[in-house]
Amino acid sequence: MMKLSAVISILAATALAQYSAPNDTIGPNADGKYEISAEGIRGLFIPYGASISNLFINDTNGIERDIVLGFDNASHYSVDQFHPHLGGVPGRYANRIKNSSFVIDGVEYHVEPNENNNNDTLHGGPDGWDYRNFTVVAHTSDSITFSIVDPDGKEGFPGEVISYITYTMTPHTWNIKMVALATTKKTPIMLSSHTYWNLDAFANPDTPTALNYTLHMPYSGQRIGTDGILIPNGTILPNELYSVNDFWSSPKQIGANFTSPDLLGNCGTNCTGYDTCYLVNRAQNGPYDWRSGGPVASLSSNFTGIQIDIFTDQDAFQVYSCGGQNGTLPIKSTQGYEGRPRVVEQFGCIVMEVEDWIDAINQPEWQRDKKNIFGPGDDPYVLEAAYVFSVN
Ligand SMILES: *[C@@H]1O[C@H](CO)[C@@H](O)[C@H](O)[C@H]1NC(C)=O
Ligand SMILES: *[C@@H]1O[C@H](CO)[C@@H](O)[C@H](O)[C@H]1NC(C)=O
Ligand SMILES: *[C@@H]1O[C@H](CO)[C@@H](O)[C@H](O)[C@H]1NC(C)=O
Ligand SMILES: *[C@@H]1O[C@H](CO)[C@@H](O)[C@H](O)[C@H]1NC(C)=O
Ligand SMILES: *[C@@H]1O[C@H](CO)[C@@H](O)[C@H](O)[C@H]1NC(C)=O
Ligand SMILES: *[C@@H]1O[C@H](CO)[C@@H](O)[C@H](O)[C@H]1NC(C)=O
Ligand SMILES: *[C@@H]1O[C@H](CO)[C@@H](O)[C@H](O)[C@H]1NC(C)=O
Ligand SMILES: *[C@@H]1O[C@H](CO)[C@@H](O)[C@H](O)[C@H]1NC(C)=O
Ligand SMILES: *[C@@H]1O[C@H](CO)[C@@H](O)[C@H](O)[C@H]1NC(C)=O
Ligand SMILES: *[C@@H]1O[C@H](CO)[C@@H](O)[C@H](O)[C@H]1NC(C)=O
Ligand SMILES: *[C@@H]1O[C@H](CO)[C@@H](O)[C@H](O)[C@H]1NC(C)=O
Ligand SMILES: *[C@@H]1O[C@H](CO)[C@@H](O)[C@H](O)[C@H]1NC(C)=O
Repeated sequence: MMKLSAVISILAATALAQYSAPNDTIGPNADGKYEISAEGIRGLFIPYGASISNLFINDTNGIERDIVLGFDNASHYSVDQFHPHLGGVPGRYANRIKNSSFVIDGVEYHVEPNENNNNDTLHGGPDGWDYRNFTVVAHTSDSITFSIVDPDGKEGFPGEVISYITYTMTPHTWNIKMVALATTKKTPIMLSSHTYWNLDAFANPDTPTALNYTLHMPYSGQRIGTDGILIPNGTILPNELYSVNDFWSSPKQIGANFTSPDLLGNCGTNCTGYDTCYLVNRAQNGPYDWRSGGPVASLSSNFTGIQIDIFTDQDAFQVYSCGGQNGTLPIKSTQGYEGRPRVVEQFGCIVMEVEDWIDAINQPEWQRDKKNIFGPGDDPYVLEAAYVFSVN
């Protein structure tokens, strides 16, 4: 780890010195997007939030489908009013921070609130990482690396953080590596990829929603309990067999339990659906290798036959069933079904976020400081994931 952190420090210093890659002339294209690809997979990325904006996979009939949400035009991300965190990297601390405050070594810090009448901080605050343009430090035909320098005090967070986000395509696989260093003070760090999926590219004539997709989370027998505005209250809850949150005992359609009264309130007060942090419990089976130990989640669609298997080193997995969508957000020119409104309907997508236990900085009894708080002398923050695609 010392070695890795030394290497990262050198990389960081190089970036600060305005490093320019030997040949980064491959991108961007006319829409301001950077393309990377490998056999069976092609993705487009933008500096804004280090976001994925398009992901093309051939379906069971050989038709290319763009299966993530985004905008056609890279410059539109900066002017969009609603900002649903489309495909970006939430940072420096993903998900919600209770009361927009936390304590490190006895010092109470207050960060910028931006949700629920300013009762909490969501995804790093009103100017979190996915509201900013990252720097493209390298771009090849199959890989792109973005960097960000997040200054001391920005959004109220203590100390500077320097981060690198690398996306690499290998056959049928989108590989994600996120590294972050706290260079001056101890600070909370939690990153993720906030990608919205519609595995049908909105082209399924029978439905524009994602409710018929099948989800399996074999390691997620527990979830984090939250209050009415989705703030963890410290409780770890059981996903009892056959309950609405049981996606572990066998694969189940996202919408399978939408008529169950148990689902009302499952994603906050009066909310029906999922916006839930599931725990990923693997260590009890002995040492595991996240790359070969099986996916933490699998999602598939009958219409396109496209299946995604998510492998990660992270210990939690957030699922959001897009209950907040209401037909306002447009779909892209690469998506849709003729004759149907070109918008994202309620439940028209699924967000799946690999991450650590949310708001663990405010639940000291969970004892996850090593995964949530980082200082200059510590190992770097690292997140790795592989999204593997297949067709059935
Ligand atoms: C960089 O790559 C582009 C396109 O791949 C090529 O046209 C250009 O000649 C290359 N430039 C250098 C300096 O190698
Ligand atoms: C989809 O198939 C076509 C035809 O074989 C091919 O040209 C294209 O590259 C494929 N797309 C992807 C994303 O693999
Ligand atoms: C891209 O979006 C920006 C901001 O919304 C807009 O000004 C510009 O005209 C768009 N460009 C294209 C080619 O659509
Ligand atoms: C919430 O934060 C405020 C300051 O922003 C502080 O005065 C208050 O004590 C905090 N409340 C709780 C319950 O921690
Ligand atoms: C937020 O805080 C205010 C007072 O600061 C309170 O009136 C309100 O009920 C809280 N909750 C929500 C969900 O807005
Ligand atoms: C990000 O970069 C784009 C393209 O250069 C620019 O139009 C946009 O204003 C920038 N956005 C922010 C938030 O800096
Ligand atoms: C979705 O699944 C339900 C059963 O859970 C089924 O009744 C319905 O026909 C399916 N719809 C589509 C469009 O596949
Ligand atoms: C936390 O919230 C859950 C509902 O999500 C509830 O079942 C549990 O009792 C709450 N725990 C505490 C300590 O308030
Ligand atoms: C949820 O759906 C599954 C699959 O259809 C079913 O077996 C289970 O009984 C349902 N649970 C509830 C609480 O409705
Ligand atoms: C929840 O729904 C009930 C019944 O429709 C309503 O009275 C209440 O105000 C709602 N609460 C919130 C927080 O929206
Ligand atoms: C998928 O389609 C098959 C064949 O039409 C059907 O039997 C099955 O129930 C469908 N499964 C889901 C999850 O929609
Ligand atoms: C739909 O959602 C957007 C974004 O959250 C919101 O601004 C708008 O008011 C909503 N429209 C309706 C009709 O609820």
